Amino acid sequence: SGHTGSAIINLDIEGPVISRHLYGHFAEHLGRCIYGGFYVGEDSPIPNEGGIRLDVVEALRALNIPNLRWPGGCFADEYHWKDGTGPKEERPVMVNTHWGNVEENNHFGTHEFMALCELLGAEPYISGNVGSGTVQEMSEWVEYLTRDGDSPMVRLRKANGRDEPWRVPFWGLGNEAWGCGGNMRAEHYADLARQYATYCRDHGDNTLYRIAAGAADGDFAWTETLMRQISCFGCEATPKNFFQGISFHYYTLGGPWENKGSATDFTVEDHYRTMLAAQRVDRLIAGHSSVMDCYDPHKRVGLVLDEWGTWWSVEPGTNPGFLFQQNTLRDALVASTHFDIFHRHAERLFMANIAQTVNVLQAMILTDGEKLVLTPTYHVFEMNKGHQDATSLPVHLRTEGTVRAVGDAELETLSASASVKDGQVLISLTNLDAAESADVALDLRGGELGALTARILTAAGLREHNSGDAPETVAPRSFDGVTRTGTGLRLALPPHAFVTIQAPLQ
Ligand code: AHR
Repeated sequence: SGHTGSAIINLDIEGPVISRHLYGHFAEHLGRCIYGGFYVGEDSPIPNEGGIRLDVVEALRALNIPNLRWPGGCFADEYHWKDGTGPKEERPVMVNTHWGNVEENNHFGTHEFMALCELLGAEPYISGNVGSGTVQEMSEWVEYLTRDGDSPMVRLRKANGRDEPWRVPFWGLGNEAWGCGGNMRAEHYADLARQYATYCRDHGDNTLYRIAAGAADGDFAWTETLMRQISCFGCEATPKNFFQGISFHYYTLGGPWENKGSATDFTVEDHYRTMLAAQRVDRLIAGHSSVMDCYDPHKRVGLVLDEWGTWWSVEPGTNPGFLFQQNTLRDALVASTHFDIFHRHAERLFMANIAQTVNVLQAMILTDGEKLVLTPTYHVFEMNKGHQDATSLPVHLRTEGTVRAVGDAELETLSASASVKDGQVLISLTNLDAAESADVALDLRGGELGALTARILTAAGLREHNSGDAPETVAPRSFDGVTRTGTGLRLALPPHAFVTIQAPLQ
C-alpha cells in the first residue's frame, strides 16, 4: 500500500532567486523570548557575552539567520527606545501590557540587540513605534543607530559607549496597525506610514528598506490601500516609493482562536486540518501578490510575511500571556511546507520571519534554566539553509496519487521544492500523510546529479518532540531511501517525514 507520486525537476531552467531573508526570525519582548531566552544578564552563571546566552547564539549560528526582527510585535508599538539605553540601573521600568502585564526593566535595549545581531551574523530589522510613539522619536532612533559625524543623537550614542554607527537595513513602520498597533483604519495608517517613512532618513550610506505594517491573513483591501499610497506622484520630479516592503501576518491554527488546541496532544484529523491551514498561506501570498501586481508590475515592492508559524494553546501551567508551546514533528512539517510555498513565490516574497525564535510560539529553541533543547522546527531551518539566496528550480508535481480527503476539502500530502547555488542542487520533499508512505519518482531533466547526500527528519509519530531528557527524539538522520533510475531518482518517503537531497550538478 502507500501513495505514489511523481515530479519533474528541470535542472536547467532557472527560476527567481530565493531571498535568504525568507529564513528570517522574530524576537519580541514576550514571555521568555528575550529574558531567559536570548538574554540572561551579565551576572548569570549561564555562559554569556554582555548578558547574551552563548549556547543560544551557537545553536542559531548554524542556521545562518539572515535577519532578526525586534522588539515586537505588539510590544513594538508601546516601546520607547530611549528607555532601553544608558546605564542599566538608571533605565526606567515599564509595564508590558500586551504580554502578561509584567514589568520590563529595559535591560535588553538597542545596544544589546545590535550586539546580539553581531553575534548571530544577522541583519537587524527594527520595528518602530507608530501606535503610541511620535515621528520625532522614530526619526531620532534611526539617527542614533545609523548616523556618523556629529548630531544630537550621535552624541548620545557615543556617550552610551558606541562611536561607530551601525548598519540597519530593515525598518518597520509599526506593527499590526489594524489591531494592537493602534486599531487604525487602512486609510489612516497609510497616511501615517507615509509621514513616518518621510522622517526615517537614509544617513550616510545606510539605506533603509522601510516596511509598512500590513494586513492580517487575507485582508487584501488593506494591501490595496497601502499600494495605492505607496508613491508620491506629483510631489517630486522622480516619484519615489515611501516604503519598499509591505508586510502581512499569517499564523497556522489547528482550531478556532478561542481554542487553538494542544501542541502535543492532537489527533490525526487535527493534524490534517493543521496542514490545510498551513497550505492556505499559498493562497494568501498569491492574493496579496496579485493586488501588488496591479500597482507594481515590475515587482519592486517586496511582500514581507514578518510573522508566521503555529499558534497553539499555551503549555498547561504556564503563563497564558507568555505564549510558550512545545514543538512536535507536526510543527516541523508545517515549516517545511511553508518553505516550499515561499520558494514558489520567490519573485514577490522578499522576507518572512517565523514567530518566534526562542521560547515563544513556533520556536527554534526552548530553554529551561541552563538547559537548551533544539526543536523539530530548528532542524527544518538547518536542513533547508542551502536554499538561502539560491536560484529556484521548477518542480512539477503530479498530484493524483497523493491526495487525501479531509472533510469537504482535499489535502495534497506531498510537498516539494528545489534550488541550485554554487553548483549544488538542494531538493526538499515532505510527506504530510500521517500513515501512508509515498513512493516518489523524481524525473530530473536538463542535467545530471553527482554523489547524493540525503537526510530525513521523522519520528515514530507526529506528536513526537524533544525535551531536556530526550533531546534527539526528532533530529535529522542520514536517509538511504533514495535510488537512481534511468530518468532520475526514486524515493521511498516514510509517512510524516521531511527529506532533503543535496548533490552537485554535473
Ligand atoms: O507573535 C505574537 C503576536 O502576534 C505579535 O506580537 C503580534 O504582532 C501578533 O498578533
